[in-house]
Amino acid sequence: MPFLFTRRNKAKGKGENIVLPQHIGIIMDGNGRWAKKRGLPRSAGHTAGAQTFRTITRYCSDIGVKYLTVYAFSTENWKRPKEEVDALMRLFKQYLVEALTDFKDDSIVVRFIGDTTAFSPELQKLIRETTEESKDRDGMVLNIAMNYGSRDEILMATKSIASRVQSGEISVDDITEELFSSGLYTAGQPDPDLVIRPSGEYRISNFLLWQSAYTEFVIMDKLWPDFTTEDLDKALELFSKRNRRFGGV
Ligand code: FPP
Repeated sequence: MPFLFTRRNKAKGKGENIVLPQHIGIIMDGNGRWAKKRGLPRSAGHTAGAQTFRTITRYCSDIGVKYLTVYAFSTENWKRPKEEVDALMRLFKQYLVEALTDFKDDSIVVRFIGDTTAFSPELQKLIRETTEESKDRDGMVLNIAMNYGSRDEILMATKSIASRVQSGEISVDDITEELFSSGLYTAGQPDPDLVIRPSGEYRISNFLLWQSAYTEFVIMDKLWPDFTTEDLDKALELFSKRNRRFGGV
């Protein structure tokens, strides 16, 4: 299994051998509650969460994680009050502009998973520019899940396969797990080894359903804006102790 890595612990200035996940997924949850606790609008929670996103992304890149997928906006999040959705869109624009330069030093490849055609032309342009500008870098791949829903993604892959069968390009017997995976937004990437959900909720919330068949989950009792690199270390330590059997013994 390709998930054994030596962790480069730059933060502590020493090499440390632990089982480092190759691909980490994070459900960045708890922004709203963080803001409410402080008597602030929910958008203030997202602003604080965006700062955590930046810190944790850099840290993952520093310690040698190869793929990081963050859940920034789900297909269901459009149901939120307009004011909150607008604030999130403003934040995405601001961070994409910054990400272009900010993540450059770390050679981070920025990709987007989800149906980005639903966003404003301005945001779509930024998404295209960020993808294009960072595609030849050689560092960690950061997938930002925006207007992402795993059921939606699975339907998209299914429809594409169905039309290929219908046109005679492939036969029903050609449909394998590999073929199916190649129709998902995460095509060509390893499945997540670890998904972290801060804020204490025990839910998957339509995140990487197909890809997380054998993923280890770590639920943490911290709200996302309060999540620190030490919390990530804790999650990595828990992951490191898991006995992954992938259905075997
Ligand atoms: C879930 O918390 C969080 C979101 C729907 C938004 C996540 C977005 C960010 C952290 C912004 C940064 C991202 C990028 C890519 C710039 P919630 O609002 O559901 O929290 P609650 O459960 O406490 O209400």
